[in-house]
Formats: sequence, C-alpha cells, structure tokens
Amino acid sequence: MLPKMLRFHFTTLKASPFLPISKAIRYPTRLRSQMASFSSSSSSTLLFRQLFEKESSTYTYLLADASHPQKPALLIDPVDRTVDRDLSLIEQLGLKLVYAMNTHVHADHVTGTGLIKSKVPDVKSVISKASGATADLYVEPGDKVYFGNLFLEIRATPGHTKGCVTYVTGDTPGQPRMAFTGDTLLIRGCGRTDFQGGSSEQLYESVHSQIFTLPKNTLIFPAHDYKGFTVSTVGEEMQYNPRLTKDVETFKNIMANLNLSYPKMIDVAVPANMVCGIQSKTS
Ligand SMILES: [Fe+2]
Repeated sequence: MLPKMLRFHFTTLKASPFLPISKAIRYPTRLRSQMASFSSSSSSTLLFRQLFEKESSTYTYLLADASHPQKPALLIDPVDRTVDRDLSLIEQLGLKLVYAMNTHVHADHVTGTGLIKSKVPDVKSVISKASGATADLYVEPGDKVYFGNLFLEIRATPGHTKGCVTYVTGDTPGQPRMAFTGDTLLIRGCGRTDFQGGSSEQLYESVHSQIFTLPKNTLIFPAHDYKGFTVSTVGEEMQYNPRLTKDVETFKNIMANLNLSYPKMIDVAVPANMVCGIQSKTS
C-alpha cells in the first residue's frame, strides 16, 4: 500500500523560514514573496503527481507550490512521448510550468524538455553542470531550485553517469522528505554503470554518502521501475536493496557481471538528450 500522503493529491508543507540566498535558483516572482517566506508562520502546499511512460518504464514527477498565487510547477524527467499528456494535466490543474528538469542524460528514452520548451517558451530546462549537456540552467551540488516557496536541493550522485544528481525536497517537521534519485538508486536495484562515464565504485559511494544519509523515512522516487513498484524509502533500501546492502567489493563484482545487453536506445537517446532532446536546439 502507498504511504498515506500519496493517497492524496497534495500534502501541506511548511516553508522553511531560513532559506539561503546564495547559489539558489529562484522562480522570478519569488523576489516579491521573499519576505513572506521568511515568516515562520507561512506555509506552502505541495502538489505532487507521479506519472508513468510505459515504453521505457519511466516515471515523470510533477511538483508545484499550490498555495502560491501563480502555482509554479516543475517536471522531473519528462519523456518526449508523454509531453502532451503532462502539459494537459498541468493546464487542467491551473499550474504554471517553470522548470523541466533531468536527473541525468538518459540512454533509454528521449527527454521531453526540448519539446516542452517549444510548446511553452517560458519554461527553463535544468540539468547538472557535470552532465556536459546543454540546458538553460545548470545545477551543482548544494544548489536549491525554488518553485514558489518550495525548493529542491541538488545532491551529486554520479556513478550511473558522471552527471547524475538526486533532487531532494526541503526538510519540513512532521513530513518525510522526497528524493528523486534518477537511475542512481532504483527500488531494490540501481542503474547500470557500464556506459556514460559510469563507475560502480562511484555509484556505491554516491548512494551511501548522499542518499542513505537522509532520514530513513525519506521517500525514494526513482526514474524507472520494471516490476510495478512506485515508491520506497531510504530505510527500506538500506535493509533490502540486494546490491547496495553489500560491501563495496561485492557490489563492484555484482555490477561487473550483470551481462546486460547493449542499450537499444542509447545511440539515439544520448546525442538527443545532450541537447534537451531536440538536436537542432541551440538554447
Ligand atoms: Fe539512465
């Protein structure tokens, strides 16, 4: 059964009264609401949706500050095939899409960020600087991406690819945090490490230092699932992940002997995803 909060369309989060200003990517209207966000009595309502693309078994996540007047929203890991579905939902919910973000340069599907930008020109694409890909905004470890009074913190989690990041929601008393782990940590698994600058040793270190150090009730939302799982927790993966519960040498050995086939989409998807999924796109 899903955790209680996921049975609802949204949950109420209280905005942090002490938001650092430096290294923060802010939604432009945030400047006007900044004073309110510094009030400990202010609160924000997170709207959250988990969306699925069946061809690549990819999860796309929609997050929005539903209590902000403009309802600024972001998408994590949109897929080109489901852009129209996602934009239609955003319109129906009355949200203003601000960011289309990727956790990494995907090899199994073409990102929807370029297509979204062509349909909604104000949207900014976001990816890690370490990915080497083109986007409007580049994030680095410790940055915060604001949408209204809410934000995602960027944690560097290389290993599946050299530029993988995990996006983590803010720390709110009484609420579990949410970690969008991309392919770094999957439910009872992890992404492969044999392409795109991957390194099993680095992935192991990333998970243990950047994800398993989060509170155990932190919800894990991966970029994919192939068995029907939708969500896990840090505590669950620390106990039951069949790979990452092992010592590093055993883990490296497991990853070196997966005997996986060559990714069928990699030669199409990676060059496209280096430029927001649209190869002619220059911005
Ligand atoms: Fe991937």
